[in-house]
Amino acid sequence: MEHSGWKTSMLKPYVIFLLMLLSNQPMNATISNYPCNFPAIFNFGDSNSDTGGLAAAFGQAPPPNGETFFHRPVGRYSDGRLVIDFIAQSLGLHYLSAYLDALGSNFTQGANFATGGSTIRPQNTTRHQSGLSPISLNVQSYQFNDFYVRTQIIRKVDGVFKELVPKPEAFSHGLYTFDIGQNDLTGGLLLNLSINQVKASIPDILGQFKTVVKDVHDKGGRYFWIHNAGPIGCLPYILEHLPTKPEEMDETGCANPFNELARFFNRKLKDLVDQLRKELREAAITYVDIYRARYALISQASKHGFEHPLRACCGYGGKYNYNIHVGCGGRVSDNGKELLVGSCKDPSVKIIWDGIHYTEAANKWVFNHVVNGSYSDPSIPLQMACHRK
Ligand SMILES: *[C@@H]1O[C@H](CO)[C@@H](O)[C@H](O)[C@H]1NC(C)=O
Ligand SMILES: *[C@@H]1O[C@H](CO)[C@@H](O)[C@H](O)[C@H]1NC(C)=O
Ligand SMILES: *[C@@H]1O[C@H](CO)[C@@H](O)[C@H](O)[C@H]1NC(C)=O
Ligand SMILES: *[C@@H]1O[C@H](CO)[C@@H](O)[C@H](O)[C@H]1NC(C)=O
Repeated sequence: MEHSGWKTSMLKPYVIFLLMLLSNQPMNATISNYPCNFPAIFNFGDSNSDTGGLAAAFGQAPPPNGETFFHRPVGRYSDGRLVIDFIAQSLGLHYLSAYLDALGSNFTQGANFATGGSTIRPQNTTRHQSGLSPISLNVQSYQFNDFYVRTQIIRKVDGVFKELVPKPEAFSHGLYTFDIGQNDLTGGLLLNLSINQVKASIPDILGQFKTVVKDVHDKGGRYFWIHNAGPIGCLPYILEHLPTKPEEMDETGCANPFNELARFFNRKLKDLVDQLRKELREAAITYVDIYRARYALISQASKHGFEHPLRACCGYGGKYNYNIHVGCGGRVSDNGKELLVGSCKDPSVKIIWDGIHYTEAANKWVFNHVVNGSYSDPSIPLQMACHRK
């Protein structure tokens, strides 16, 4: 079975961690260092962690999405697996079913509330107008609350569904993962807000994020794993929609003002996490610097075996192989001939999948670099993320 190999290889980091503690430091009785054995994952987010939510509500992602690993579209905006898939796999859990997915879902090991295009704040535009999902974080929170209540009712009555929902302790011992906020920034920019206007909305955005984390805590959730926003200034769709002056591009070719906005958001998010740790004394909250991991990969692509870090694998035309009018899986007419906007020859050496999202290879690289805690605060491996430092 594929999972067992992962589990053994993932044992190494915390064995090393344990040895370090035993050899270098006096024993500290208040720090426990056993692996957490999370029984479930509950995820909130956008397309970076959507495993089928948007597809269930608004139609399947078109081929060639899913081609590399699943060999068919499976509600993910990538050629293969996402960071959340690698997280689940490394913890020995199933890939997460989307809460909205009515068919074939097994929620015993968690549920995924993320949808592509989700923001933290409710939007005032339709998905047709802006591409943003109506399933913003507050809606994901309503869905989680309903899920929480209904699984308890279902477990009390006999029947087939009992075998498909989490046990009560999965909610208190599970890992709550968050990867959301990026679309609040890019969505504002694409609706013509200035960078300063978007910055001014960040306290409100993070205030709403905090409400949801505290609500999960009220339901018994204790272990939180929070991804920050990625380098939006390196994404072809931002580079094409919002052209930036040459002097504002960095040496990698990313747009500094938008990356600076993401870093500004991330500093405020980190402050919020510090504040939440003070308010929620029993919670273990890990802040994961996905921005730094993704930027390390993009800015040193060739060193890590990747090429053309800013060019989409699945796209059409222009400097970034990305066209704002027709996306991955769409059709274009080229000299009267209809062409499918398809995949590049070798997605395993590409970072950007479709101009907005990442390839499986890039997601795997990022996962491999964050799983041992080297991009986290506190700096502890994923398997130990139930321990408060
Ligand atoms: C759902 O997944 C759990 C955990 O792997 C498994 O034990 C259970 O049999 C599955 N339920 C069904 C109905 O397949
Ligand atoms: C939507 O409109 C309401 C009422 O004007 C406002 O408070 C809210 O901030 C708006 N949301 C966004 C994302 O702009
Ligand atoms: C944003 O500004 C551009 C350029 O002025 C305009 O074409 C576009 O329609 C505007 N978008 C929105 C959502 O107002
Ligand atoms: C974490 O893992 C990455 C990738 O395998 C490795 O390069 C890095 O040195 C590791 N960091 C620590 C602190 O173990």
